Amino acid sequence: MAEVKISPSILSADFARLGEEVRAIEEAGCDWVHVDVMDGHYVPNITIGPAVVKALRPHVKTVMDVHLMIAPVDPYIEAFADAGSDIITIHAEAGPHLDRSLQLIRSLGKKAGVSLNPSTSEDVLKYVLDRVDLILLMSVNPGFGGQSFIPSQINKIARIKEMIGDRDIEIEVDGGVTPETAPACVAAGATALVAGSAVFRGGTPDDPSIYAGNIKAIRSSVASL
Ligand code: DX5
Ligand code: ZN
Repeated sequence: MAEVKISPSILSADFARLGEEVRAIEEAGCDWVHVDVMDGHYVPNITIGPAVVKALRPHVKTVMDVHLMIAPVDPYIEAFADAGSDIITIHAEAGPHLDRSLQLIRSLGKKAGVSLNPSTSEDVLKYVLDRVDLILLMSVNPGFGGQSFIPSQINKIARIKEMIGDRDIEIEVDGGVTPETAPACVAAGATALVAGSAVFRGGTPDDPSIYAGNIKAIRSSVASL
């Protein structure tokens, strides 16, 4: 099995030191950098916008994995593309024209992702599978880091893996991912894991070895799968 990608969510980083935090998690061995964008409307929290994504871009050497939890989303997709996102993921629940939004992301030369909340059925993916590069399954209700993993999402991962067949689509799981919950995700078909608190816990950008240990703990938990 190909090695699972680890995408630390900078939601759990020190927001006053974001550039240093990104450099530290990359030094610690992450594969992608997960950026959680929240608008206080689609989700009950507000985080960052395209200006911060743009400011972070020169610090990110890997992949900028941008998760938009905003509605409406279409008017802002171009701004996040221009800011330097590599993957732009939108929520299926956030707008009436998912197919159009995904086409827009790809037309801007970016990888297109679609995210589903825990209560959303995978059925909404059925007719857009040829327009997506990544499916982001929320294993918590979006809005905050540090919540507990919702176990019912494991079956959803397996069903989506079956749906995508041999298409080249990443299955990323986001929320409550730890060395305890990661194995079930990967066994069910996850190819990428977002982890916020489980990566940043106990560390600061002054010493990337703590982050490296946390990333290694997640990788080790799934190494035998
Ligand atoms: C939640 C965000 C997640 C979150 C993950 O709305 O999309 O990326 O920050 O944080 P943890 O890993 O702490 O659950
Ligand atoms: Zn996220």
